[in-house]
Formats: sequence, structure tokens, C-alpha cells
Amino acid sequence: MPTPMNRLEQLLRSPSVRAILDQDLEACALDIDQAIGLPPACYTDAEFYEFEKEVIFRKEWLCVGREAQIPNQGDWFSITIVEEPLVIVRAEPHRILALSAVCRHRARVITALEDLPPDQWTCPPAESSGNSQRFRCPYHFWVYDLEGRLRSAPEMSRTPGFETSEIALPSFRVETWNGFIFVNFDEHADPLAPRLHQFTDWIENWHLTDMELGDRGEIADLPWNWKVMHENSIESYHSDRLHRGLHESVPSGGVIATPFHDDDAVIATRIRASLRDYSLNPTYHALLPVIDTLTDEQRETSYFGVIPPTLLLGMNTDSALYRLVYPTGPQHINVKFGNLFPRGDAHSRRGREIRKMTTAGLLVMTSQDFPTDAAVQKGLRSRYAPRSRYSWQEEPLAHLNRWLVQRYRSVHSR
Ligand code: FES
Ligand SMILES: [Fe+2]
Repeated sequence: MPTPMNRLEQLLRSPSVRAILDQDLEACALDIDQAIGLPPACYTDAEFYEFEKEVIFRKEWLCVGREAQIPNQGDWFSITIVEEPLVIVRAEPHRILALSAVCRHRARVITALEDLPPDQWTCPPAESSGNSQRFRCPYHFWVYDLEGRLRSAPEMSRTPGFETSEIALPSFRVETWNGFIFVNFDEHADPLAPRLHQFTDWIENWHLTDMELGDRGEIADLPWNWKVMHENSIESYHSDRLHRGLHESVPSGGVIATPFHDDDAVIATRIRASLRDYSLNPTYHALLPVIDTLTDEQRETSYFGVIPPTLLLGMNTDSALYRLVYPTGPQHINVKFGNLFPRGDAHSRRGREIRKMTTAGLLVMTSQDFPTDAAVQKGLRSRYAPRSRYSWQEEPLAHLNRWLVQRYRSVHSR
């Protein structure tokens, strides 16, 4: 009997996916002085996005948030990544689980709220959070414990062969690094932390695990591809141009060439700052006390890293910021963001005021980046969209390309 084709095999037969994979992708992954851009269809094609879901989002470590969001046993939050509803729960004081939030009965998302106002009755369920010792599906009251095991199911005793003890919510691998929680749908994936190499060393003195989580936010439905977002975040070429006058503390020419190894799980970049104790805010200077464990070199260097496909992390000398990028389609993303501050600074009155200033300052930069991202996406849909060469100041893009092409080629040889 022929076995049914799995999703990946189907996608590899898609004409649009094949048309991309048959192109010279290796040219994107060359060193920066030789590399060219990805085929534009990588950013727009619906079936290629489905292919990326299979070879990237179902294989790689996906950052879902901070450990500080669930400090106590029983704390949980829900999140949806590539259409998979998950609940992230602290099942024991030192054990975080990632469970499917889809009820094993008739698939209601167990964390989707009840008692909604009429204008939300037909909306996609919002994400939620809470503290519980169990999850009860509101539909027919099947009850799961924090490990995801089904503990009770009303009126199922007359159903022959139904064994409560055999039923559980699927559970996925979890790894934590520097206070960030990562989930992986692939039970065979290599651990993340050993593949972060030098980036972990670069930022070690910030002691991110101990930092306090400041304001968090979310922007839904931004109209560009997930890779456009990361590319804009990690290349410095545009800093002196698009942000001219605003980015002087971390200029384009300060980029320091950085090696990329084939097993790297981070696209890391360093930029020599033009002043000591820089910070990305309207004053350019650190507003909170500079983190006292930083070396002289760290006080004069800006460090950014993308741990694809979801996390961007940037360091300031008095704080850190992160951004989580979740595609909802080939040309749309949701973005969550947050700030990290040395303990004690985030919630002081002065700290709150400074956070407001910092956020307002970053908004100016965002007001230049976001319209550009939208305009790039529009350009990528054009039949005249280019596969251009790069400037030396865009080296992280060649590294990101290499990371991507490794995964695109992992299932397809030309
Ligand atoms: S769908 Fe969850 S109990 Fe029926
Ligand atoms: Fe920018």
C-alpha cells in the first residue's frame, strides 16, 4: 500500500517551492563580499511559507517569552506559533512545560477565554495567562493536570475502551537560556545553548537571567515577511541613512566583522559605538546606572543577536531589549517586545520615567523602520524585485542567508 504523502513531500512537489529551490540559493550564503539576496519569492510565496514552517518553525528553537512571566508554580501563559496553540506552564518550581493547548476531546483551545463581550464573540481567541493547578476545558469539562495528563472526563465511563490515564496533551521540548524560554516541536533537535557560542560570552556580563522584566507589548498583523523584520533589525547599513542623525551613537561604520560557523544558532553582530556608555534613546547616553559588571570594551560596543526564527536581542549599557517575531502568514507577522533592566531600576519612579523616555525615543526609530519594512514587502512582490549584492555593513544578512539556506537544503538536493 502506498504510504500517504506527508506535508513536506507535498510541498516539495509544489511548483512554486520547486521554482525557488531550483535557483542558486548557495549564492546567498557566500561571504559578504560575494553574496546576493534571497529570491524575492522567499518573502511572498504562500507555499514557500508552508515549506518554511516545516523545515524551520517545526525544527528550530522558538522563543516564547521570559521565565519571569511565570515565576510561581502553576503560572501559565498561552501563545500561538505557526497556528499551534500552546500553553507554557511552570509545573514545578524549576520545571517549565510547553503543552499543546488543544483539548483532546473536540479540540477547543483550553486556554481560550469564556464570558466575552459581544464584540469579541467571533474574534480569534486572545492569548491569556493565569495561575491554576489544573486546566479545565470549558466545553465539556475535561480536566488536565499541569503535566497535561487527563485527570477526569465527565460521562465517559460508558464509552467502551476509554481510558482517562491514556490521554494527555502533547508536550514539547523546552530549553531556557538567559531567562528566555524556548520551545521545539522536534524531539530530535540539538540543544540550543551549545550552538550560541561566542554570543553567550559577549553578553554574559549583563546577567540577563537576573534582570527584571520591564514593559512588554505586542503589535499584531504587521504586513511584512518575518525575514524582512530580522534583516532590518540586524544590518547597520541603514543606521546612518534611514536613521540619519538619530543613530550616531552606533554608526554604520562601526560594524565589526564577525565569523559565522555552520552550527551557529545565532546571527550575532557587534558595532563599535561612537561614545562610551551609549544607549539607544534620545540622549544617546545610558540613563540608568551603567551595568557595573561590563568591561571597558562592552561599554563601547553595541551587541545584537537574532536567534532565528523568533528572537532578536539587543544590549544597551544600562538595559537590554528583545523582540519576538511570529509569522501568521507569508506576508504578515505579530511582534512582541520587552525591556530588561537591572534589578531595582525598572520599578523605581525614576526608572518608570526613563522607560517612558526610552520607549518614546525608540518610537522615532520605529516610525522610520516600519514604513520601510512595509515598502520593502511591497517591492518584493514586484516582478522586478532584485537579488542584489550587499555592502560590507550588511554582513549579518549573509550569515542569516547561510542559516536559512542550510535549512532549505536540508531536505532537498538540487
Ligand atoms: S472539547 Fe474539551 S471537553 Fe470537549
Ligand atoms: Fe532601523
